[in-house]
Amino acid sequence: MLCHVALPAAARRSHVGPKPRRRRRTLVARLCGCRCGRRHLLGASSAAGLLHIVNPTPLAVAAPPIDPEVMLERVHPTRPGWYEKLYATAMDKGMMAYEAEIAKYKSNLFSQLSVAGKNFLELGVGTGPNLKYYASADGVNVVGVDPNMYMEEYSRAAATSAGLPLSNFTFRRGVGEALPAEDSSMDAVIGTLVLCSVKDTTMALREVMRVLKPGGLYLFIEHVAAPDGSLLQFVQSALDPLQQFVSDGCHLTRKTAENIEQAGFSSLSMNTARLSSAYIISPHVYGVASK
Ligand SMILES: C[S@@+](CC[C@H](N)C(=O)[O-])C[C@H]1O[C@@H](n2cnc3c(N)ncnc32)[C@H](O)[C@@H]1O
Repeated sequence: MLCHVALPAAARRSHVGPKPRRRRRTLVARLCGCRCGRRHLLGASSAAGLLHIVNPTPLAVAAPPIDPEVMLERVHPTRPGWYEKLYATAMDKGMMAYEAEIAKYKSNLFSQLSVAGKNFLELGVGTGPNLKYYASADGVNVVGVDPNMYMEEYSRAAATSAGLPLSNFTFRRGVGEALPAEDSSMDAVIGTLVLCSVKDTTMALREVMRVLKPGGLYLFIEHVAAPDGSLLQFVQSALDPLQQFVSDGCHLTRKTAENIEQAGFSSLSMNTARLSSAYIISPHVYGVASK
């Protein structure tokens, strides 16, 4: 099955990177030339920058690699309380301009959850800014996973104001590298601005695959490295260590699109966007993948 993200017109205009056609060819060449031995079918829509992948043999994954609580301490050892609290408060108060700009992308993307089933896991739920887009439908259950305990209060408040009864929202302290959820238990996993922060992107994506039901959806919006050789990429590289320090491990230079392409989803629709509200994290990828 091929999923398709319907883009707002403004989003089509805001694609970044080298000329979209060249980018598409590069992706196709790299994917088809990979050594995994699986057959990739690729196509591209007429919307510039939109990549579809259909992989008929998704990777088989089962069982978390390690106990989720052990993994939590391993990849995200408890920080000083003041640091985690400060970061949670900064996320709550400091993202308004960003959230206003990303709203049209989120509305479009998360509208696909209306047919996805009822059990959702939000990876790195943070203060819960996504809940208002998808959590109000009848019977929806959301597990919000985050290592920062101070996110619980914010995400519960966001659930309530989104119209999600707290009986249907569970905050679990944990990390993407070993999700506190059963195999094939989720209709969808949602992750925004989180693969920049996990310690091991490949492990986290493997966990997304593990907890998704067959055909389940992974919806993502991630900030990524600017194109190779660009001024912004240079600036990102220079500021990366500082960013990790002040933003709880967030990396500016990750090539997350490649990790998602290689995660073994049976279909993937991914697009690029450039946001103006936060220069340093302006290049984004977003889309939907299916297990
Ligand atoms: C930039 S915030 C994004 C939060 C939220 N998804 C949003 O869109 O506002 C990154 C979040 O990832 C969480 N995080 C950090 N390391 C993580 C990990 N290994 N697994 C899951 N979440 C993690 C942080 O605590 C933080 O809440």
